[in-house]
This record gives sequence, structure tokens and C-alpha cells, in this order.
Amino acid sequence: MILAANFKMNHTRASTKEYLRKLQECPKPKDLELFVFPPYTALDRYEGPAVIGAQNAYGAEQGSYTGEIGLQQLKEFGITTLILGHSERRHLFGESQELIAQKFAFYKERGFTIFYCVGETLDIREKGDIQRYLLAQLEGIDLKYEGLIVAYEPVWAIGTGRSAKEEEIKEVLAFLQTLTSRPLLYGGSVKPQNIQTIMRIQGCSGALVGTASWRIESFCQMIQKMKEL
Ligand code: 13P
Repeated sequence: MILAANFKMNHTRASTKEYLRKLQECPKPKDLELFVFPPYTALDRYEGPAVIGAQNAYGAEQGSYTGEIGLQQLKEFGITTLILGHSERRHLFGESQELIAQKFAFYKERGFTIFYCVGETLDIREKGDIQRYLLAQLEGIDLKYEGLIVAYEPVWAIGTGRSAKEEEIKEVLAFLQTLTSRPLLYGGSVKPQNIQTIMRIQGCSGALVGTASWRIESFCQMIQKMKEL
């Protein structure tokens, strides 16, 4: 099982440190892998049960890429885990599939664990063209890569408080399972109240959590819920 906290543009270096200190006091089941993705400015080496990853990175070691970080900056803190293709990168910041696939290839080559996100917009869901849309978001991605973790995050369920329904998640995960045998996560309004239901969905290996992960108490509550499964 996997539980990952995507801090997005929340938390400072000081509050991340405090969060990760408290996380050490939160009992976790042995078979649960924890990941925390703080903002760039809070990347560091931390003690504790969670693997620290970056929310994004450019596909180069170093160079003239204003505003980006690359392999050199990640290496400083021993970071080998990344989120790529998050819908906020795709939709708010206009990242193209080509760019995302380039980053994927670069970090795959270097053995990174990559949380690769896909998910349809509400418009696409209503039109019923989900599979084609998801396939386009997987273009150029090596679905056999052993460091790959795929997160299904429907855009309309992110940060809205409205998670996708069990059936909806199950259907998409079943489709993704026809494409890859790597672990599949769900993300989109996951919280302590619904995490057990989500974890029981066939094909679901874990959750990528935004809002409900930002408070350590709530993240720890989700860890407890996973323990009870
Ligand atoms: P929320 O949990 O806030 O819906 O965000 C999900 C997400 O985007 C995780 O990457």
C-alpha cells in the first residue's frame, strides 16, 4: 500500500520539518509506503518513515532554465522520487504531453521512482471519451518501467471535496490495468472519511492526497485508517 502527500504550494521549510517530525510519532503499518512531496524550497534530507519526493522537475542535469530545478538540485538532497504530469502542471501551467514525456524519459534513465498522473476533465467525462483522453496522457510513457507508479486523478475531483465514486474509479483502474502492471493509485478529494472505501477498490494500491494531507493530524488519521484495513 502507498500513501502519498502532495503539499502542492503549501507549507514552508519550517512547517515541513515540523510535519515530518510529527509523522515519526504516527504509527504506520509495515506494508505501507509513505511519500511526502513538499514544495521545492522545503526539499532536504529528513529523518523518518516517509520518502521525500519533488512535485516536478525539468529533464536536465543543470542549465539555463529559469525557474526550474533539475537533477543537480535533486541530487543535493538524495531525492530520487518525482511527481510528473500532475493535472495542475498540465492545465494551469500548460505542460504539453511532449514535455512531460521528455522529463519522464530523462528521470527514468536515472532510475527515479515516478508518480505519473493522469485524469480526465469534467468535459471529457461527460462526453464519455475517457479512455482516449487517458491514452493521450500516456503517450511516450514507458508503462513497463519498474519505477513507475500511476496515479489516476480526475481533474473534477481534485480539491473539490467531491471524490469520484467507487464505480467510476474501479472502471478507470481496470482500464489502466490493461495497460500496465505497475501500482495504480487514486487521487482526488481523498480524506480520512473515504480512504478505506477507496483502498478497497479492486486494483487500487494507494492514494495520492492533496488537501487532506496538509495537516499532519489528518494525514496521520489516514495512516490509521489504512492500518485498520
Ligand atoms: P486533493 O486531495 O486536494 O483533491 O488533491 C489531489 C491531488 O491533486 C493530489 O496530487
